[in-house]
Amino acid sequence: MYPLSRNRRLRTNEAVRSLVRETAITPDDFIVPLFVVEGKNIKEEIASMPGYYRMSLDLLKKEVKEVWNLGLKSVLLFVKVPENLKDNAGTEALNSEGLMQRAIKTVKEAVPEMLVMTDLALDPYSAYGHDGIVAEGKIINDDTTAVLAEMGLSHAKAGADILAPSDMMDGRIFEIRSLLEDEGFHDTGIMSYSAKYASAFYGPFRDALDSAPVDAENIPKNKKTYQMDPGNRDEAIRETLMDIEEGADIVMVKPGLCYLDIVRDIKNAVNVPVAVYQVSGEYAMIKAASEKGWLDHDAVVLEQLTAIKRAGANMIASYFAKEAVKLIS
Ligand code: PBG
Repeated sequence: MYPLSRNRRLRTNEAVRSLVRETAITPDDFIVPLFVVEGKNIKEEIASMPGYYRMSLDLLKKEVKEVWNLGLKSVLLFVKVPENLKDNAGTEALNSEGLMQRAIKTVKEAVPEMLVMTDLALDPYSAYGHDGIVAEGKIINDDTTAVLAEMGLSHAKAGADILAPSDMMDGRIFEIRSLLEDEGFHDTGIMSYSAKYASAFYGPFRDALDSAPVDAENIPKNKKTYQMDPGNRDEAIRETLMDIEEGADIVMVKPGLCYLDIVRDIKNAVNVPVAVYQVSGEYAMIKAASEKGWLDHDAVVLEQLTAIKRAGANMIASYFAKEAVKLIS
């Protein structure tokens, strides 16, 4: 074939490269995770996530306007729950005046058109740092899904557009969907964390929300009885197909970079939109290496996000969303 076919012809200059480029990220691709805390005028940097902050509701308002003005139209809310409100039942998660419920309303007040997604899991509310109710050293699945459904309903009532269950209990999508339908919330969507792995890359996030499993007797030390084993791939498809059957509108793979093979498998196996969560540890790695001058920050950010999209992501939850849209505009 050579020299009749020369692949380098289509790489000669930026004009032709951009013409033949198969994948490019745009502001439409992003979901912006936001961490919310109680208080006033609070904007605290998360130590293991340089440049990322927890903020109080008054500052959340400003942030959401800024995000919208950058062309970003979806946010995913997480709350840091005061220690004294945590228990083993998710009581505070159901409080209609709780921090999450107020945060949802705050975002809608600031920018009514913003798509509001909410994290649906008990860990920020759990005295033990688990996504489920704990009894006798175990996570009790069906008691947990019942609370998750109530929690989802409470978010929907507060105005959430899409609920994002991140807990990995069996059957939770069915429970949540059924209650939403019973209560008339037909248009409230579900973005399921379908293939969520028991990953060491969640460390900085657990710092951000103070939500790591506690080290105590009869409390599971990790989340491996509900999150997936990193060695598994067929199981990711099984989990995802079940979530779709149970009523998930969007399915998610999490984390991103180490699991791009799973993203492609799932993209090929389903016909609903696929989301990828580029998680806190992935953010921290890029920040740390570029702080040391070992990586070109902006180039690596764009390369990783492009790779996630190329693998099959229809949308990406990323702590780099704001920086990325500035870089591509
Ligand atoms: C917990 C939850 C986690 C993340 C999102 N929801 C952490 C965990 O499972 O312990 C991680 C996000 C990140 O690391 O950026 N329900």
